[in-house]
Amino acid sequence: MKAIVYTAYGPPDVLQLQEIPTPKPKANEVRIRIRAASVNFGDLLVRKLGQVTPAQFHMPALFLMLAKLYFGIFRPRRAILGSEFAGDIDTVGSAVTRFNPGTPVFGFVGPRMGAYAEYICMSENGILTEKPANLTYEQAAVVPYGAMMALKMIGRLDLRPGQKVLVNGASAGIGSLALQIAKHRGATVTGVCGTQRMEFVRALGADRVIDYAREDFTAGDERWDVIFDILGKGSFDKARRVLAPDGRYVYVSFKSKQLMQMLRTRLTGGPRALCASETEQLADLVAVKGLFESGALTTVIDRTFPLEQAADAHRYVESGTKAAQVAITVGAPMGSPLY
Ligand SMILES: NC(=O)c1ccc[n+]([C@@H]2O[C@H](COP(=O)([O-])OP(=O)(O)OC[C@H]3O[C@@H](n4cnc5c(N)ncnc54)[C@H](OP(=O)(O)O)[C@@H]3O)[C@@H](O)[C@H]2O)c1
Repeated sequence: MKAIVYTAYGPPDVLQLQEIPTPKPKANEVRIRIRAASVNFGDLLVRKLGQVTPAQFHMPALFLMLAKLYFGIFRPRRAILGSEFAGDIDTVGSAVTRFNPGTPVFGFVGPRMGAYAEYICMSENGILTEKPANLTYEQAAVVPYGAMMALKMIGRLDLRPGQKVLVNGASAGIGSLALQIAKHRGATVTGVCGTQRMEFVRALGADRVIDYAREDFTAGDERWDVIFDILGKGSFDKARRVLAPDGRYVYVSFKSKQLMQMLRTRLTGGPRALCASETEQLADLVAVKGLFESGALTTVIDRTFPLEQAADAHRYVESGTKAAQVAITVGAPMGSPLY
């Protein structure tokens, strides 16, 4: 099969098209013919992990150490990137009962990766379920991780209709889904993003969109009940004045300073800082499928790149000019118009 393989950490050029053996499913596994895969935060990070320093990393240095041990300290131990995908069940192992060949599916393999390829095998009990019928393969491929994370985080907050939510980083993986799930729960939502993604965030249903390059959301008079900070680019101390008296500032990315803030604000009362820590499960993906099929959630594909041009897809995302989500297509492109 064709796959995008990388044998050294570095710039997008390390991603090379190669012919490798097609994997065979074990008794409890299914083999999926991949139609589309996402280019997400994790793919970009892991491609250059060897060169990432603790200062560039958005989470505690210990997490970076563990990631380097898992993915390889000097060179990648997992040769194929891609953690989210959509495709069709191709072959099932002898003990498989959940899936039949031909069923369209979408799924998440997490740090195991391997979706930048024509085929992938995974346990039938992995994070894999039928593709939402109303999404293209490209749309379905770019949402599992962000939607599952956002659903888990918002589920813990007991968000009430009418509350005001701000998502600092609303234009990509987790934030674009957090914005929509908060909106679906009846909140009034402000999305903060880069200039090129403002139209996308508006199309997702944001009541107000702020360009972080032009406006500091902590400087105005508006107050929010919940602020999600996806990359930890803001700070609780600065945002305290725009939080409601019992408001919560949720760091999706955090370091030890933010963990200390969480402990401190738990004791002092008033607005609180929280550090999110979530893991994905199959039940979350099943819930995500239902939300997309009900029309509560959507996504927009800006550009697709064929598997052979995976390096260009990475370059495009890193250029900062993308207008919405980016997918890699495997085989014939399915087409998915912008808006
Ligand atoms: N806590 C947990 O359990 C957990 C789990 C998984 C991941 N994470 C963390 O989540 C982060 C990745 O999230 P993601 O996948 O959603 O990332 P992503 O897809 O790369 O999205 C990043 C978002 O941040 C925005 N952003 C960039 N610069 C900004 C700035 N200066 N101010 C405000 N927003 C800015 C981007 O906006 P533009 O693109 O418009 O510039 C984009 O909307 C990582 O740090 C990862 O470690 C945490």
